[in-house]
Amino acid sequence: MKIELSPYDAASTYLGQKQFDCGHAIINQFARGSLKQQVKKGLSVAYVLTDADDQDRFVGFYTIAQHMIDMSLLSAMQLGSLPKQIPCTRLIMLGVDQKYAHQDLGSQLMKHALSLTKQISNQIGSYGLYLDADPKALGFYKKLGFTLLQGDKTPHNSPMFLQSGRII
Ligand SMILES: CC(C)(COP(=O)(O)OP(=O)(O)OC[C@H]1O[C@@H](n2cnc3c(N)ncnc32)[C@H](O)[C@@H]1OP(=O)(O)O)[C@@H](O)C(=O)NCCC(=O)NCCS
Repeated sequence: MKIELSPYDAASTYLGQKQFDCGHAIINQFARGSLKQQVKKGLSVAYVLTDADDQDRFVGFYTIAQHMIDMSLLSAMQLGSLPKQIPCTRLIMLGVDQKYAHQDLGSQLMKHALSLTKQISNQIGSYGLYLDADPKALGFYKKLGFTLLQGDKTPHNSPMFLQSGRII
């Protein structure tokens, strides 16, 4: 197994993308049906993991875009005085196929997204990386340094944030 991370190419056909199964119905549906169009329209950028030892099979992906959040969302972080609207980067979708789970690949995608956020924050301004976490993935994001913004809203998604200045 030789896994490679690269920008998603909407003009390419990836083996296994239509059968992608990360165990999360909405994310599966997005990867199989909407990902290509989202990227083609410039609504987000995606990065993919492919398996070079299996015809560049589609193994995992994430999508990312610029975003704006209300400063009240960050009140739990006690960051002092901030403008009402906060420019940030948003991780929209993330998934790793179950056949490849627990091999650090999700973490690899997240580290790439964090590094990108850091670069963006240096170039055009981004206060940090924002995401809506699936309840089952809260521990996964906490391990990466994310703060839960409004408590665990299980069974609903919970907003989480990691400041650009805290990304190593
Ligand atoms: C969350 C996800 C991307 C993790 O991918 P992965 O490649 O297995 O992640 P890693 O191997 O880097 O890390 C896994 C660790 O994260 C933690 N974790 C927390 N929630 C998890 C979950 N739902 N699934 C897998 N691991 C989870 C565990 O500590 C796990 O450690 P372990 O392997 O020792 O059990 C993947 O499980 C997935 O696609 N889940 C469904 C879609 C999803 O929930 N996406 C996030 C939406 S906000």
